[in-house]
Amino acid sequence: MPPSLKKINVLLGLLGFTLLGILAAKPPDEEKPVYKNLKVLSKKISDDNMDFVMESFGVQLGVNCLFCHPGRKNGYVLNIDYVSDELRNKRIAREMLRMTMKLNKKYFNTSLTGTMTTRGVIWCKTCHQGNPVPILPLSK
Ligand code: HEC
Ligand code: HEC
Repeated sequence: MPPSLKKINVLLGLLGFTLLGILAAKPPDEEKPVYKNLKVLSKKISDDNMDFVMESFGVQLGVNCLFCHPGRKNGYVLNIDYVSDELRNKRIAREMLRMTMKLNKKYFNTSLTGTMTTRGVIWCKTCHQGNPVPILPLSK
């Protein structure tokens, strides 16, 4: 092989390696988060609707994420474990969500589905009105 061709071969070889390197290093497509422990909501729920649900839980019960999801301090960093079912409030919230879906369907002929693409008429605030435990009007 003439020396010039040999050079080109080496160059092509290098280029190939470089390309392989780039392909291997490229992170997989910007993936949407994978929810690992959904039992009432659908695994197909969009990120936007998931944000809507979790944020509305907070606002409608007057709490923040830590009310249902345990936070673990690591120095100054707070890691919130959204997957864990350790906190009772999360487990109750699941049952409340089931109940709310049923109320919409059975009594109001609307649907509140696991993907939250339709949202019914009853939601947590119907009863909670910004409180972790609904305040019942005891007088009257
Ligand atoms: C009133 C309780 C409650 C509050 C407050 C709450 N969540 Fe949740 N969260 C839940 C429940 C219940 C589930 C599981 C739903 C299911 O099983 O379908 C869940 C699931 C999740 C998941 C999915 C975890 C997985 O991989 O399975 C994420 C992420 C999440 N919540 C984020 C948040 C964020 C962020 C906030 C604050 C803005 C928040 N949550 C506030 C009750 C709550
Ligand atoms: C039909 C009325 C109603 C709706 C709708 C409702 N809740 Fe409740 N919820 C209650 C009542 C009443 C209690 C108090 C039960 C008790 O004291 O045993 C409660 C208690 C809770 C608790 C326990 C609070 C504590 O500190 O013990 C959580 C968590 C909760 N609800 C979450 C939710 C979420 C999340 C939604 C929306 C998906 C929701 N609830 C919708 C009536 C409702």
